[in-house]
Amino acid sequence: MISLTHVSTTFAARGREPLTAVDDVSLEVPRGSIQGIIGFSGAGKSTLLRNINLLERPTAGTVSVAGTELTSLDDAALRQARHQIGMIFQGFNLVNNLTVAQNVELSLKFAGVKDRRERLRRAAEALEIVDITDKTSVYPAQLSGGQKQRVAIARALATKPEVLLCDEPTSALDPFTTATVLQYLADVNREFGITVVIVTHEMEVIKALADNVAVMEDGRVVEEFPASELRREGFNPRTSIGKYLLSDGIRLDRSGERPHESTSAPQDPDAAQPGGTHRSQHTALAGSAGGVR
Ligand SMILES: Nc1ncnc2c1ncn2[C@@H]1O[C@H](COP(=O)(O)OP(=O)(O)OP(=O)(O)O)[C@@H](O)[C@H]1O
Ligand SMILES: [Mg+2]
Repeated sequence: MISLTHVSTTFAARGREPLTAVDDVSLEVPRGSIQGIIGFSGAGKSTLLRNINLLERPTAGTVSVAGTELTSLDDAALRQARHQIGMIFQGFNLVNNLTVAQNVELSLKFAGVKDRRERLRRAAEALEIVDITDKTSVYPAQLSGGQKQRVAIARALATKPEVLLCDEPTSALDPFTTATVLQYLADVNREFGITVVIVTHEMEVIKALADNVAVMEDGRVVEEFPASELRREGFNPRTSIGKYLLSDGIRLDRSGERPHESTSAPQDPDAAQPGGTHRSQHTALAGSAGGVR
């Protein structure tokens, strides 16, 4: 369904070294499956996700969705092709001065649904899927984080996409709301056969939802495995970053004897340390993986 071939994305900044955020990634996502992409902050996950709908056009490689090579389309054809790809952004990206219903309606307007009544009907339908019909006429500021996230899902679903790209859809949510939001994603995957790509730094999210996992480090996909492996006893990821992501919880050395090494020690004695550049990010990752809740 989604086919990335040798995709790279380099950001050039004047007076600075170019930064390769995505480095020669090839990835196949089968139709109707849920693909997880996991990695530390700065690994290139969001950039890779935005490469799929060409919100960020790759500097090299090809992107195909549903048999259409997006990277070879002109602007008009790309706009059309994007209608089948919904996106849930890191943060909610709701328009603050529009009501919940108007936010969803707006995405239908952008998708070219001309008839207002049709837009209102489809917006109501999408809001019903995520159980938020009681909030249709309130503004985003009056919603909780989980409610905002559900509106963001409804907005992405309203255009009936074949592909749903989700960037950290639960990172700002408590565990209960996380489970609710993940359940909605699982439901739309099952009921409508939507292919889902979900970017996260939470292994728990991957375990609960994904069919396949790609582990990213420094712009590369360094390891791929079926998510069922995560439930298999004795499963041992190949890369040190995969091992680290599998080990959960935070372990701190509070003796004060080795202050510089204290926060990055993984709990799994088997888990080796990934590359030095990511050391400072381990605590944040382990924290959101549930270690301190
Ligand atoms: N528009 C941009 N211009 C320049 N550099 C960028 C741009 N977007 C991202 N980067 C850089 O590319 C790298 C990867 O960023 P990206 O947002 O893809 O990471 P991420 O894995 O999603 O991280 P996080 O988990 O923190 O969201 C980072 O070093 C980032 O600074
Ligand atoms: Mg990101």
